[in-house]
Parts: sequence; structure tokens; C-alpha cells
Amino acid sequence: LNERKFILAGNWKMNKTNTEAAEFVSKLVGQIKTEDKFEVIVCPPFTALEKVRDITSSSNIKVGAQNAYYEDKGAYTGEISVNMLRDIGVEYVILGHSERRHIFQESDELINKKLKKVISSGLTPILCVGEQLEEREKGLTFNVVERQIKEALYGLTEEEAKTIIIAYEPVWAIGTGKVATPNQAQEVHKFIRDLLKDIFNEEFAKKTTILYGGSIKPNNYLGLFGKPDIDGGLVGGASLTEDFVELANIMK
Ligand code: G3P
Repeated sequence: LNERKFILAGNWKMNKTNTEAAEFVSKLVGQIKTEDKFEVIVCPPFTALEKVRDITSSSNIKVGAQNAYYEDKGAYTGEISVNMLRDIGVEYVILGHSERRHIFQESDELINKKLKKVISSGLTPILCVGEQLEEREKGLTFNVVERQIKEALYGLTEEEAKTIIIAYEPVWAIGTGKVATPNQAQEVHKFIRDLLKDIFNEEFAKKTTILYGGSIKPNNYLGLFGKPDIDGGLVGGASLTEDFVELANIMK
């Protein structure tokens, strides 16, 4: 038995108004039961965070943001600081999602700055990594994932990095309905765990939760979560519907 927490996290992306979010999350609160070793996190858009936090505060469902900036305040039009998130009770922050990397051109260097800020503010980062289809086809999956993790963790001590959650999301599996096979995902999760052992140590690697993300649905998820290095999922499309309740109930 490992000591890692099993996590089901929903990344809503740019979906649901405040009103829709409130209605949906009220249903989740009534239907999802969490346990000590099983955590459920929802990550709505910024505009719905406070409302969702209020509604979930009577439950064990936790709330995360989908991004944050690394400066505390100032002339950064359109950005949201980690302090602003902490102030409304947000506990997790997704960083380096492939859509941030590829649509909004976020660099490894920027992600590293954000990661440091989130950690030093006491929030828990969910760091996303993953290769694009072309990179997989060229046999570069491990190189890409290694670069993304090393650069994100650059300059962090073991003590600082120990709260991090990593999500492996192969870009070709995101929103495509083309889920990685359990073996494909396990291979990369094992690679990540070995890498964490090299960067820090075995204890650190053993304790780090590594989630899989990319077209998870209630019907494809058992094979994935039976694998030894897969500690849960970061779910996009299926986190917006009743599927999320089904996923939470199977996982438990
Ligand atoms: O962060 C979750 C995500 O990128 C996966 O999205 O829609 O393929 O489950 P989806």
C-alpha cells in the first residue's frame, strides 16, 4: 500500500458562468463523498471560485484555480495573484496546463516562477506536463517530460517542492477522446517517479501524487487507475457533467 493521496480533480477550463457553476457544484456536494485518502478538487474559472468555495465549504470538496501570476500586485492587466486566490479560500492552483503552454505561449521559465510563488504562498500546485503528438511520434516523450519537470522545479529544495502534485497530460489525449492506454500512461508515470528520485530522493518520489489527464471518462478509467504509479486523474470534459459524480464514486 502506498502513502499517497488518491485525487480526482476537475479542470472546468473556460466553462460555466457563476450561476451555472453554483447550480452544478451544489449537486456535487450532495452526491460526492470523499474520504481521508481520497480527495476531490474542482477548478472552476476565476469568476466562479468564490461562489464555489462557499458552496463546497460544508463538504470535503476542495477548490483550485486554473492559473495564477507570480507577482503579488501591480500593473499586470488581466492577471490574478496567488494572494487573491488564497484570500478567497482557494487551496490548489493548476500550473503549466498544455493550453497555457501552447495557446498562451507560457514558457518553462514562467511556469517555474509561478510554481515558486504558489509554493511559497502555501497553496498546492498541480503541475501539468505532457508531450505533443509529434513529439511522441519522434520518440521524444521522455525528453519533453523531463525538461518540463526539471525546469519547473529549478531552484526549489526538496522541502519546498514536497507539496507538489504532478499531472501527466499527453497533449494528443486532451479533449480528443483518444485516451492513453493504461500501459502508455503507466510508463510515463514511472518515468516521472524515477526522475523525482534522481532530482530529490526515493522518499520524495514515493510520496508524490501523479495524476493522469486526457479524455478520462467513466468507461475508460478503471484500467488507468489500477496502475501502480497512477494516483488519480485530472479531468476536463467529464468534470462538467454527471460523469464527474460517477468517476468519484468508482474511484472511492
Ligand atoms: O486538465 C484536464 C484536461 O486537459 C483533460 O481534458 O477533456 O481530455 O478530459 P479532457
